[in-house]
Amino acid sequence: MKSAMNFTSDNCYGAAPQILAALAAANQGAVTSYGEDPVTARVAASLSRIFEREVAAFPVVTGTAANALALATLCPPHGAIFCHEKAHIAVDECGAAEFFSHGAKLVLLAGEHAKLTPQAIAAALPGFQGGVHSVKPSVISITQATELGTVYTPGEVRALGDFAHGHGMTLHMDGARFANAVAYLGCSAAELTWKAGIDAMSFGATKNGALGAEAVVFFDKSTAGDLEYRRKRGGHLLSKMRFISAQLDAYLTNGLWLANARASNALAQRLANGLAKIAGVELAHPVQANAVFAHLPDAMAARLRDAGAQFYDWSPPAGGRALARLVCSFATPQADVERFLEVAKG
Ligand SMILES: Cc1ncc(COP(=O)(O)O)c(C=O)c1O
Repeated sequence: MKSAMNFTSDNCYGAAPQILAALAAANQGAVTSYGEDPVTARVAASLSRIFEREVAAFPVVTGTAANALALATLCPPHGAIFCHEKAHIAVDECGAAEFFSHGAKLVLLAGEHAKLTPQAIAAALPGFQGGVHSVKPSVISITQATELGTVYTPGEVRALGDFAHGHGMTLHMDGARFANAVAYLGCSAAELTWKAGIDAMSFGATKNGALGAEAVVFFDKSTAGDLEYRRKRGGHLLSKMRFISAQLDAYLTNGLWLANARASNALAQRLANGLAKIAGVELAHPVQANAVFAHLPDAMAARLRDAGAQFYDWSPPAGGRALARLVCSFATPQADVERFLEVAKG
């Protein structure tokens, strides 16, 4: 069979078999609706175990909803949310954070490899000292792993957490690929979140084996505020919530979340190492999760596409060289990676 070589995204692949099996199991019998079921309770307990403290967890269906609901809870309508200029909330969520927060302002900042630093936020803060005339610095939002396949270390998160709290702000994490970051760093989920100052996060599962399931997590339950109301109003309190929770339940059982992330990270490492050895290829960012960003010679990119490879050209800076984004999923066949490298070699 011809290799698919589909590296467009991790969500172009399907769901993990364990998660499909969990859905079938959840289909038995009748349970209370709207999240008052035993599976949803189990998810909250599993997340509390993984994060080593009792958390408030709210399953939703999309990452956009998770981010927007968390940020709306953390940020007042007159607040500013500092994020990287490439952040998913800034460029890929159709203004959902602004909409759900009733008008909070996203302040976009630059940073190498899609990472925010306290220095970049400190440099921007003087622009927000106008009292009621400027929006109020309220939240810092970071993406882990980042949109460019890099990760924040616990120390880097801690520096942002200290900065946020020292300036009366909170720290949010878009963890659509949180598992990939934990797998890469080999640290605990707690070390990378609340122990480093994260107040709330979007805990992703869809990109790493679920059909459609994410959880908004608040590390101090008392700060989750009216999130439940916001979730209902935003159309993310599913009546048959057990099916969303069953996905998260299986994802968190027997370390599936980390096993899948290790698999996709390993494929990306293999791809990056292979590409780095080919003349003319230049890796654009460190490969620390499941995505490889590489400058490929035009002829090589054309040859790969002729051979059936699919990948996106990622917005290069104005006048810059084309940048290929190659994303590996937990289900990407190893043979696709090997064939991609073979064709790339020419
Ligand atoms: C960094 C990041 N955050 C959040 C999301 C969630 O998006 P969606 O609303 O499509 O589930 C994505 C999906 O591409 C993402 O890459």
